[in-house]
Amino acid sequence: MTPNEPTLDPETAAALVRFYADAGVDLALDDEPHDRLGEARAILEKAPATPSEPPRLEAVAPAAAVNADGAVQDAKRLAASAQDLPALKAALEAFEGCMLKRTATQLVFSAGVPGSRVMLVGEAPGADEDRIGEPFVGRSGQLLDRMLAAIGLSRTENVFIANVVPWRPPGNRTPTLAEMAICEPFIRRQIELADPDILVTIGAPAMQTLLGLKDGILRVRGKFIAFNTGKRTIPALATLHPSYLLRRPEHKAFAWRDMKTLRAKLAELPSSKN
Ligand code: URA
Repeated sequence: MTPNEPTLDPETAAALVRFYADAGVDLALDDEPHDRLGEARAILEKAPATPSEPPRLEAVAPAAAVNADGAVQDAKRLAASAQDLPALKAALEAFEGCMLKRTATQLVFSAGVPGSRVMLVGEAPGADEDRIGEPFVGRSGQLLDRMLAAIGLSRTENVFIANVVPWRPPGNRTPTLAEMAICEPFIRRQIELADPDILVTIGAPAMQTLLGLKDGILRVRGKFIAFNTGKRTIPALATLHPSYLLRRPEHKAFAWRDMKTLRAKLAELPSSKN
């Protein structure tokens, strides 16, 4: 604090912290605030004035600029070199290409039983998952567990769970397209190595990233589409995200129909496991 800075009384300070938390600011990245616009302006002022060449993105925002293409190439190389799930986890621990790693508490790699017939893939960890290190352990995870239990599935016995992005985005925002593209080679390899008989994508971002569908989730959910794991082609089913169902409980009937569709497919499809 500078000598002239006014101090806040404890009540006002607490109200301010509550205001930030309600606005979704639940993470302090640095002790001191940054004037990002001022930093960018200073860089631009130093840059030589060459009207034919506009300033490059990296020069304007060096801290935020991510060489996404390079990171995707690194991710592809690292993911492909992992020969089993523990090696893939170690590769992710060593990967520095996704900036979310810097703000997350820890890597949230998977939950459940690897090698299960069913693999579920969500979007990204939230605050509870970030704290505990396991996907879908918060409120939406508890609803997911109840949905699975209704068709005889459970993370302790017969499902494997992961996310497209394994680090929590600050404030639980949706991961950006660049963040998902950077993490995509890892989740694709995770699916290939886990080798499920059926893939279930949870929510729109997982559906769009893995199934390549641009339609809305309400249109696409509930239908099987062919998914190439890299090892074989399996059926994939998109369903609604439990956090969406907590906000829109009137849509739980759709999710229940999807669970019954999944149960019927499991019964009809020969098991690749013994
Ligand atoms: N939402 C997700 O998509 N994944 C989690 O692990 C938790 C909440």
